[in-house]
Amino acid sequence: MEISTGSSMSEKKIPEDRETVIEIEHLCKRFGENVVLNDFNLKVYRNENVVVLGKSGAGKSVLIKCVIGLLKPDSGTIRVLGKNVPELDHEDLDKIRTKIGFLFQGNALYDSMTVRENLEFSLRRQWIKLPQTEVDALVKEALGNVSLPHTADMMPAELSGGMLKRIALARTLILKPEIILYDEPTTGLDPVTAREIDNLIIALQKKYHTASIIISHDMNCVKNTADRVVLLLDGKCYAEGTYRELEEAADENIKQFFE
Ligand SMILES: Nc1ncnc2c1ncn2[C@@H]1O[C@H](COP(=O)(O)OP(=O)(O)O)[C@@H](O)[C@H]1O
Ligand SMILES: [Mg+2]
Repeated sequence: MEISTGSSMSEKKIPEDRETVIEIEHLCKRFGENVVLNDFNLKVYRNENVVVLGKSGAGKSVLIKCVIGLLKPDSGTIRVLGKNVPELDHEDLDKIRTKIGFLFQGNALYDSMTVRENLEFSLRRQWIKLPQTEVDALVKEALGNVSLPHTADMMPAELSGGMLKRIALARTLILKPEIILYDEPTTGLDPVTAREIDNLIIALQKKYHTASIIISHDMNCVKNTADRVVLLLDGKCYAEGTYRELEEAADENIKQFFE
């Protein structure tokens, strides 16, 4: 059987020399009595898209918020580009965050700012004194990357759901992240737009050689984007494998996602 379940996570199919970008070990996070992550382990390598699959409330968003340092775990390590995120002070956390793009479920664009201002705001927070010509070039490049070059002076309210998702992605890309974390990137989009976002995720990974964690329960998105799928269940990495491997699994807990 190709799939590994439980704690004996198999990595035999991944060549030894791949660069580990994110390494999560024994991660535990609870809110009061609610144990959300309970000895969760995961490695993500450069140049791959890992999809974390799990039911609503399984702890997927909590997981990526821990990775970016928005939530502090109770125990465990989260090494991102060699640094243990939960131990970083504010300054080092800010530094590592410049290398991590985070696409929030709700996009988190500023409604009162134009697209350009949203993108520039993201830049200005990182490099305070960048010449305007350079800022303009970066904005242009980022909008080009998401195929929306003509939207710079539009307001978020003028854009469709799919366009907003792309702009949110452009805002993340402008910082040239080594890692991108996607929280349900296709939820709430129509199927055609959702597949466009899938294609964009794949294209960006190829272009920038990023490592990504994609949270999703949209099985089309999972199938299209995942180099590897991990199933988050009961706070643990319950299973991992390719989409095909998990699709063929006999385990009921895995099967229910593929029905
Ligand atoms: N800031 C918080 N305070 C208390 N409970 C939280 C908080 N964030 C998430 N939770 C709880 O953690 C669990 C997992 O949430 P979440 O990661 O958002 O699930 P999902 O897998 O749907 O993204 C849920 O039971 C949720 O209520
Ligand atoms: Mg969530």
